[in-house]
Amino acid sequence: MRVLLVNGSPHKNGTTMAALSEIASELSLEGVEAEIFWIGAQPIRGCMGCGKCGGNSKCAFEDSVNEFISKAADFDGFVFGTPVHYAAASGQLTSFMDRAFYAGGKDIFRLKPAAAIAVARRGGCTGAFDQLNKYFAITEMPIVSSVYWNMVFGSNGDQAKMDKEGMDTMKALARNMAYLLKLRKAGDEAGLKPPKPIKKEFTNFIR
Ligand SMILES: Cc1cc2nc3c(=O)[nH]c(=O)nc-3n(C[C@H](O)[C@H](O)[C@H](O)COP(=O)(O)O)c2cc1C
Repeated sequence: MRVLLVNGSPHKNGTTMAALSEIASELSLEGVEAEIFWIGAQPIRGCMGCGKCGGNSKCAFEDSVNEFISKAADFDGFVFGTPVHYAAASGQLTSFMDRAFYAGGKDIFRLKPAAAIAVARRGGCTGAFDQLNKYFAITEMPIVSSVYWNMVFGSNGDQAKMDKEGMDTMKALARNMAYLLKLRKAGDEAGLKPPKPIKKEFTNFIR
């Protein structure tokens, strides 16, 4: 059982990293392997809808998005962490997730538990949290919850560690993620088959 935790901040070792590290340590205690993937500090361009990714599981633009896509299939669960920028997820992570989910395709994500976390100095976490959960909800990913909305406050990693309630929220989230992964494993071992994907009809409201 492996979880990939995505650090969507331009700061490799900032507040987002402190919150993700808490989740990673708790996952390890629960017997789940955790790896942190940093999207980097380089500009990440948005999706331009060129459609070249169709069926390739690869974006036309070569950067950390393709690096992530090529790893993701080997993981059983995901956590995406963002710093709050103007009461929303960071521009970098938004571009990253647009392209990772659009180009990556459903197969690498479908029915794998996922969680979003947001960190901020003071406000905007719930908006960013809602925003990120939407990627999971359209990809048939069970959304893992905690004892509060998944947020930690601070301007840097040291302040984040002082947000005890925030850190407890991260811990509980990790435990719940680990439990869902164990349930999935037990189900697989017992021969429980996942539901077949629906062949969805696209209705674009044009008739
Ligand atoms: C462009 C920008 C916009 C920000 N907007 C907000 C905001 O809306 N609300 C807030 O509380 N903090 C805001 N912050 C502060 C960061 O969310 C905060 O410093 C956070 O701890 C950074 O996490 P990181 O170290 O993982 O990048 C903003 C920071 C930047 C750079």
